[in-house]
Amino acid sequence: MQNIDITRRLSKLMPTGALLIAFIFAAVLLAQEKEKEKKQEENMSIGDRFHHETCMTWKGAIGDMLSKKPPEPPQYKSYPKAEKIQLPKPEYSGMTVEEALKKRRSIRNYSTKPISKEQLSQLLFAAQGVTGKMYGKALRTAPSAGALYPFEIYVVVNNVQDLPRGIYHYSVLDHTIELVKAGDFRDQITDAGMKQETLGKSGATFILSAIFDRVRYKYGERGMRYVYMEAGHISQNIYLQATSLGLGSVCAGAFLDEKVNQLIDVDGKKEAVIYLHPVGCL
Ligand SMILES: Cc1cc2nc3c(=O)[nH]c(=O)nc-3n(C[C@H](O)[C@H](O)[C@H](O)COP(=O)(O)O)c2cc1C
Repeated sequence: MQNIDITRRLSKLMPTGALLIAFIFAAVLLAQEKEKEKKQEENMSIGDRFHHETCMTWKGAIGDMLSKKPPEPPQYKSYPKAEKIQLPKPEYSGMTVEEALKKRRSIRNYSTKPISKEQLSQLLFAAQGVTGKMYGKALRTAPSAGALYPFEIYVVVNNVQDLPRGIYHYSVLDHTIELVKAGDFRDQITDAGMKQETLGKSGATFILSAIFDRVRYKYGERGMRYVYMEAGHISQNIYLQATSLGLGSVCAGAFLDEKVNQLIDVDGKKEAVIYLHPVGCL
């Protein structure tokens, strides 16, 4: 009689025990998996980790929606005290896109002939010119994630007809340039660009600088990827426009970050230079 009772009791206990064992087993597996992932991340290069940690998953996307994000910075940057120069209307009509695509080449040697203000105007318009409106927002020549436009464009004017040398900021809304620093910056931009002479011998060298929180406030860390993608869009616009104007250009990703950031007075954290783009006459 007593034996039967014990068996009954055991059989009642068994499912709970099995459940407990299964639970412990799952917890161990999960901990092992987490440990493995941590080890994997530890062995990753900074580049691999950047990509890995900004990968999108449904779980991550939901987590990201709930995560704390930086506040939205102003959409436009301006220099209210700076001298403002109105640029000619960008009305140039050149070769077809197909021709420009076929002809585009990275060109690093330029003649001493200055580029014209009209050409500068057209190039800035190609980079970030306003081409439309949506919900009161100014849309531009290059696409931007969420139409948030993280980029500011600066121009080191080295050799532009009727325009004093200096560093200017492109004001997209009114198609003007604002004089940020007057003077000859040919040597400084060359030094900051790791002695790439093309940067100082150009008619103008474009500096593409990104304000990261403009995209991060909405997309979190994933937004950092978008910034680099957008630099490519803007760069290609400059390349194709330069080709169509019969000018030479090259994009430059090799430069001393701190030095170029200092040149335009940005901190390299909230805002940093991503790309350089000299353009000159052939
Ligand atoms: C992300 C990136 C960075 C680059 N950086 C430089 C650079 O610092 N200096 C330079 O002279 N060319 C640079 N280039 C231009 C490449 O050398 C060039 O595109 C390549 O040789 C192909 O030639 P093509 O542009 O004439 O087709 C860069 C290109 C890219 C896409």
